[in-house]
Amino acid sequence: MSEPLISVITPTFNERENILNLVKRVHNALVGYAYELIIVDDNSPDGTAEFAESLSGEYPLRVICRRNERGLSSAVIAGFRQARGKILGVIDADLQHPPEEIPALIHSIEDGADVAIGSRYILGGGIRGWSVKRKLVSQVATTLARLFLPSIRKTKDPMSGFFMVRREVIENVELRPIGYKILLEVLAKGKLTPHKVREVPYTFQEREAGKSNLNMKEQVNYLKHLSILVEKDKEIRRVAKFLAVGLSGTGVNLGVLFLLTAYSSLSPLVAGIASIELAIISNFILNDIWTFGDRRTPSFRAVLKRGLKYNTATAVSAGASYAVFFWLLTGMEGMHYLVCMALGILAGFVWNFTWSMLWAWRKGEPREEPLLPK
Ligand code: GDD
Ligand code: MN
Repeated sequence: MSEPLISVITPTFNERENILNLVKRVHNALVGYAYELIIVDDNSPDGTAEFAESLSGEYPLRVICRRNERGLSSAVIAGFRQARGKILGVIDADLQHPPEEIPALIHSIEDGADVAIGSRYILGGGIRGWSVKRKLVSQVATTLARLFLPSIRKTKDPMSGFFMVRREVIENVELRPIGYKILLEVLAKGKLTPHKVREVPYTFQEREAGKSNLNMKEQVNYLKHLSILVEKDKEIRRVAKFLAVGLSGTGVNLGVLFLLTAYSSLSPLVAGIASIELAIISNFILNDIWTFGDRRTPSFRAVLKRGLKYNTATAVSAGASYAVFFWLLTGMEGMHYLVCMALGILAGFVWNFTWSMLWAWRKGEPREEPLLPK
C-alpha cells in the first residue's frame, strides 16, 4: 500500500453488526482517494475487532485492539498516533455519521481549512430521531462550551464527532480529552487559525444497529473535560485576572480612603478623589504586567499612552456604573438599591474590560515603538 493521503479513524465498542456496512460505505465514498481506515476497538465482547480484522484483506483497513483502556476519545487519539495520512478524520461506526459526506469534508481541507466539521447546527444540517431530552442535553452542552471557551464561539457544532483535520494542526500537540468530545479538545488545543475552521452540514442519522454508549457518566466526564479546557483558555483567564485586579483595586481604594481620612486633614470628599486615582494606577500597573502581559510594549512612551487610555476608560466606566445605578434606581419600581449598584458595577466592569481589550491593550499595536519621535 502506498502512503495514504487520508486516515479515517473509527472508534468502536460492540459495533460488530455495523462494521461491514461502515467499511463498504466508507470505501465507496472514497473511490479515487488513497486512504486507510483505522478501527480502534476496546476489546468489545461482541467480537468487533476480530470481525473487522477479517475484512483487512479486502479493504485498506487496520484494526487496533486495546485491551486495557476504554474510552471514545482516547481510542481516537490512539488511532491518530498510528495514522499515516496528511488528513486525519473521525467517523462513528454506527452510521449515524453518513460516510458519503466525507468527501465534502476533505474538499474543505483541500480548500485550505485547518479543520472541517460535519455540523448538525448549520443550514442544511439536522438530527433524525432524537428525543427532546437528548436534544436538550446536546444544546446545553454546546451552549456551555460556547460560553466558557471564547476560542470556539464561532463554531456551531463543537460537539460533533464527525470531522477532518489537517495533520499539522494536532501534530506534537498533547491531546488529553476526558470522555466523548474529542473535537472540543482539537479545537481548544490544536494549532489552528480560527477562520480556518469550516463546517459542512449533515444530518445525524438514527443508529443502524446496537445501542449508544453515551450515559450519565459521560455527561459528568464532559463537564470535567470542559472545566480543564476552560482553565487553559487564555481569554477566559484574562477576564478572571481583570476581575481579580478590579477587586484588589477596590481594596486599595477603600484602604487609602480610610488612611487619608483618619491620618490627614483631608476631608473624605477630597481623599476620595486621591484614593480612586491611586486605585486606577495600581490597577493599571497590575493589568499591564499581568492581565495583558502578552500584549504590552515595554517602552516608557507606550506605557504612558496605555496608562492614559486606561485611566480615561476607567473614569468613563465609573460614570457608566453610576448611570446604570441611577437609571435602575429611579426607573425600576421596587428594585433594591444594592441590586441596582451591583448591576451598575457589572456594567462598568464589562465596559472597562471591553475598552481595555480594544483600546488600551489593543492587539497588534506595533511592538517596537521608537522611544523618541524622529
Ligand atoms: N473504542 C471505543 N471505546 N469506542 C467507543 C467507546 C469506547 O469506550 N464508546 C463509544 N465508542 C464508539 C462507538 O462504538 C461509536 O462508533 C462511536 O464511538 C460513538 O458512540 P455512540 O455511543 O454511538 O455515541 P452517540 O451516538 O451517543 O454520540 C455520538 O454523537 C455525538 C453527537 O452528539 C458520538 O459520535 C459523538 O462523538 C458525537 O459528538
Ligand atoms: Mn451513535
